[in-house]
Amino acid sequence: MTSTGAELPGMREDYRSASLDAADLAETWHAQLLAWIADARAAGLPDANAMVLATADDEGRVTTRTVLAKDVDEHGVTFFTNYTSEKSHQLRQTRRCSVTFPWLALQRQATVIGTVELVSREDTLAYWRTRPRGSQLGAWASPQSAVVRDRGTLDDQLATVTERFSGDEEIPPPPHWGGWRITPTHVEFWQGRPDRLHDRLRFRRTDPGWVVERLAP
Ligand SMILES: Cc1cc2nc3c(=O)[nH]c(=O)nc-3n(C[C@H](O)[C@H](O)[C@H](O)COP(=O)(O)O)c2cc1C
Repeated sequence: MTSTGAELPGMREDYRSASLDAADLAETWHAQLLAWIADARAAGLPDANAMVLATADDEGRVTTRTVLAKDVDEHGVTFFTNYTSEKSHQLRQTRRCSVTFPWLALQRQATVIGTVELVSREDTLAYWRTRPRGSQLGAWASPQSAVVRDRGTLDDQLATVTERFSGDEEIPPPPHWGGWRITPTHVEFWQGRPDRLHDRLRFRRTDPGWVVERLAP
């Protein structure tokens, strides 16, 4: 073992703060997910709606990155991004993904597995309008996932779009920007417990409806 300094083998938390039983779960996966996001927010966790998104291309090469959930309801979990980005290319290839919300300070995570579809332009527009002007300009300025020469190139692109929209009260969303909705087949809620016997409860979609199952930790 060569993890000098980080002492990785000894890094281990004792999970004793809570438990999770089927009787504790909300009626639906989305009510439960919203409740845990609200708990994370109430506990003061930064970016309580942040989730690590895993995608793969059609040759099975997997990539991950963090995105922010901007809507959760019975239809799915929605996030917004650039449609020309690496993740969007992969989502278009496989139409599948998984996300994990890592609420480590609460000794919790939730994982969603599902298929994806593009959010309607109306829904994208409704969310776009809530974004600060600076974020809107940033979306226009950045060819997300492309190689750029240097920071100055991005700053120049921002200056160009700032000038382009300077007379406009409202900035439209770029055509290459919008939402993806994940329609879940599985949603798992994980609560850390002592001795690594963690609680794992999973909503699984079946033909008659959702079932809840306990998984071994
Ligand atoms: C806390 C956090 C939140 C983020 N939220 C988003 C987001 O909602 N949408 C997005 O496109 N990128 C977001 N990013 C940036 C992505 O992690 C990623 O760098 C970017 O989307 C490019 O990913 P790709 O090249 O794999 O497509 C976020 C990063 C962090 C750390």
